[in-house]
Amino acid sequence: MGPHSTEPTESRPAERHAAVRRTARDHFDQWAHSYDRSRLNELVFFPALRACQEELVRWQQWRGRGPFRLLDVGCGTGTLIHTLAAWPEAELLVGLDYSPMMAQRLAEKMAGSPHAHKLHTVVADSERLPFADGSFDVVTCCNSFHHYPHQAAVIQGFQRVLRPGGVLMLVDGFRDNVIGWLVFDVAVAGYERRVHHAAWSAIRDLIAAAGFATLRQRKLNVLAPLLVNVALR
Ligand SMILES: C[S@@+](CC[C@H](N)C(=O)[O-])C[C@H]1O[C@@H](n2cnc3c(N)ncnc32)[C@H](O)[C@@H]1O
Repeated sequence: MGPHSTEPTESRPAERHAAVRRTARDHFDQWAHSYDRSRLNELVFFPALRACQEELVRWQQWRGRGPFRLLDVGCGTGTLIHTLAAWPEAELLVGLDYSPMMAQRLAEKMAGSPHAHKLHTVVADSERLPFADGSFDVVTCCNSFHHYPHQAAVIQGFQRVLRPGGVLMLVDGFRDNVIGWLVFDVAVAGYERRVHHAAWSAIRDLIAAAGFATLRQRKLNVLAPLLVNVALR
């Protein structure tokens, strides 16, 4: 495109992606102070976090337990890593979020935790994970993936920062039935704007393309259906 193009800036993919990230960051910066009191926690977010913990227990049993280093992408105020901090096997728990205000809430909660030495917070974009290859045994991502404008790149990043044999737990809205479509594609997308709940088959294809060895997917029937994806690197 030449310098005199009249094409709107946002029609370029990079600009569009930046706009999606900004929309999410601004939305969660504003929500951060009251996020932990939101009714949505009990209705949608906590069931996803509980599913993630169940999968973690299952994975630990399968591999014969042992210490683990975990990265929670789109961690918000850090409810998941705070809960996991009490697990003796949890060696390192890193929460990454693009919203500085959500990360600040997490840092405030960390300060009062008896497990503060295990907990770390990073402000960064899910698409540019600032960690060396193979840094983590577990990557979790709950209730956040639909905000990412370039989902394929994010999943490639998850694969890169996991060590061989590590596990990805990705939980988000299931939009492949009527209730899920109404909740996530109509209500949530209408309210949050610029979000995309990928079909279960699209997530399956992205995970396969990123080179994960195995994938298990299940639908969780809570008030709003959720899709639980568990992939081994
Ligand atoms: C609904 S909250 C979920 C928080 C937490 N995982 C939970 O389940 O309570 C979504 C989070 O994703 C974060 N987020 C959105 N876009 C992001 C991006 N591009 N990179 C990292 N985090 C992002 C938001 O800032 C927000 O904290």
